[in-house]
Amino acid sequence: MSGFDLQAYLAERRALVDTALERHLPSEAAPPLTIHRAMRYSVMAGGKRLRPILVIAGAEAVGGAATMVMPTACALEMIHTYSLIHDDLPAMDDDDYRRGRLTNHKVFGDAIAILAGDALLTLAFRLIADNADLVSDPRVIRDVVAEIADAAGTIGMVGGQVVDIESEGKAISAETLEYIHRHKTAALIRASLRVGARLAGGDAKAVAAITEAGSDLGLAFQIVDDILDVEGSLEELGKTAGSDERKQKATYPGIHGREASRRQAKMLIDRAKERLGVFGQRSAPLLALADYVVERKS
Ligand code: IPE
Ligand code: IPE
Ligand code: MG
Ligand code: MG
Ligand code: MG
Repeated sequence: MSGFDLQAYLAERRALVDTALERHLPSEAAPPLTIHRAMRYSVMAGGKRLRPILVIAGAEAVGGAATMVMPTACALEMIHTYSLIHDDLPAMDDDDYRRGRLTNHKVFGDAIAILAGDALLTLAFRLIADNADLVSDPRVIRDVVAEIADAAGTIGMVGGQVVDIESEGKAISAETLEYIHRHKTAALIRASLRVGARLAGGDAKAVAAITEAGSDLGLAFQIVDDILDVEGSLEELGKTAGSDERKQKATYPGIHGREASRRQAKMLIDRAKERLGVFGQRSAPLLALADYVVERKS
């Protein structure tokens, strides 16, 4: 065991991220009031802040600091929150609870929930543009915009969500299931680590290693999400357990069983940790975050 204090690391970075999000979100007093209230309702409900913390950890792994990447870290959290608001809509997973409160559409209605998601996605790209002022080589922003757009779009998260929806109630192959999970979830997690390292000036070798690790970490994250949907509770998860069974979703425990799914997640995490070895001393937070992905209960 390393002596790394993950809980303290997470708490410190969550606080930084929350302060920055608070600053970057439009005020509830600014018109149109409803949409700004709806955006804040879901973003400020909390959540683990995994993606912005991975942006920061990616920067730190190559010797950078949180301040250099904070607008982009907030952007990733906004894109993630938009994906959750839309994922919960009646037309998609039809869920009533998220982050310990009623889902966005339950409070604001479907139309405003859709628009709040749209607005968060749009604001995210505005924040990435603002990050140009904080990096030594602003040309890197061009690549960061492209990579985050790809990770969020039809060759990334949206693509995975499409196949997830189209696979409801069907027997699909293990390959298709891996496609769904690598796209709907791993793409944004991979991009978070990657752009963190890129913005902080990481070299090609470092960026390649962190990208590969991010993809495995992201797949393991969604496998554990599937397991927690079976094993967890509303109190622990802040969202309704058993949602996948109800919607007849294709999941890892559904196709491979719980035991084999856990083993698979563990194998992916071990492989990710091996790749993170290139960061030497600086890999401690990432190694601890990797273990957290499989050990978490929420
Ligand atoms: C939930 O993500 C949706 C998935 C991609 C599995 P998180 O488990 O990171 O949700 P929050 O951000 O902590 O609420
Ligand atoms: C969601 O997967 C992935 C997203 C892109 C939002 P899930 O549908 O399993 O996420 P939860 O369980 O509702 O958080
Ligand atoms: Mg879903
Ligand atoms: Mg869902
Ligand atoms: Mg789930």
